[in-house]
Amino acid sequence: MTETLDLPVVDPSEIERIGFVDRPVDPTLDLFEEIERLKEEKNAVLLAHYYQEGDIQDVADYIGDSLGLAREAAQTDADIIVFAGAHFMAETAKILNPGKTVLLPDFNAGCSLADSCPPDEFAAFREQHPDHLVVSYINCSAAIKAQTDIIVTSSNAEHIVRQIPEDQPVIFAPDRNLGRWLMEQTGREMVLWDGSCIVHEIFSEEEIVRLKMRHPEALLLAHPECEQHVLRHADHVGSTSSIRRFAAESEAREFVVATESGILHQMQKDNPGKTFIPAPPDNGCACNDCPHMKLNTLEKLYLCLRHEAPELLMEEDLRVRALRPIERMLEMSAGVK
Ligand code: 13P
Repeated sequence: MTETLDLPVVDPSEIERIGFVDRPVDPTLDLFEEIERLKEEKNAVLLAHYYQEGDIQDVADYIGDSLGLAREAAQTDADIIVFAGAHFMAETAKILNPGKTVLLPDFNAGCSLADSCPPDEFAAFREQHPDHLVVSYINCSAAIKAQTDIIVTSSNAEHIVRQIPEDQPVIFAPDRNLGRWLMEQTGREMVLWDGSCIVHEIFSEEEIVRLKMRHPEALLLAHPECEQHVLRHADHVGSTSSIRRFAAESEAREFVVATESGILHQMQKDNPGKTFIPAPPDNGCACNDCPHMKLNTLEKLYLCLRHEAPELLMEEDLRVRALRPIERMLEMSAGVK
């Protein structure tokens, strides 16, 4: 049975079990129109990360990188925040907005990087370095944020690390690639947690070099979650918003892009005359989709907004402990683009 306009009852235990509202959607519905109508009716705002599919980006009220999304979540006056992104991003929105309803179209939209840092193991790791300040990449669970002094994103990490006194020892978690890149940029040692993102560590250096030989004018733009052997070929390393900005401002006409392929949607829209080639992974595929983030679809987004489920809830004690390092990040990166 397809959805009708009277609300079918959705069983909360089913949503808890499968992580999303599973109802067939009437194929004749214009989902763009329906989503716009529901957003207005419910005073909901749709925040989407660049790694979401193009249709979701097109219907979003704000599209951005993790920093932009956190800032937007901190200042919205909507009653409902629908977060089209990864679970940790929706958690961040909830941490900043305890009084608002935060929805994520599919709760299975996790993050391999966040999963690579289990809270108990991280607590033991911290105990081995009791005098260290803990700096964590925003791609981590609320339970890791609660054990962190300062959160960073790929846009503001270097700016924030440079503000930490040089004699202060630092743990950086969970991404070892971003951590290593930061150590190179800032010249300071940090103790790194050994985590990584499956999307960014799969790029093939060999294929990228081959591609660059076939497209000698093309610039390689890479996210700092990529491994060192990819970053060393890059003409520009930066967050998704920085990569997008660089491509728009550059005189070059051709780019190889080493990050999740969703970013190409905005880059192509910004620059119709330029060519963007997704950097090839080492698994024989031509482009690189995040298997978690791409679980959010336009249909699930529509259903989630319509049924206001699944909703992200958080224990207040955890939320309060996770809030402080996010606030510190926002304070320490005022003005960072
Ligand atoms: P930014 O949003 O900071 O560019 O990072 C991308 C990412 O890893 C999202 O999971």
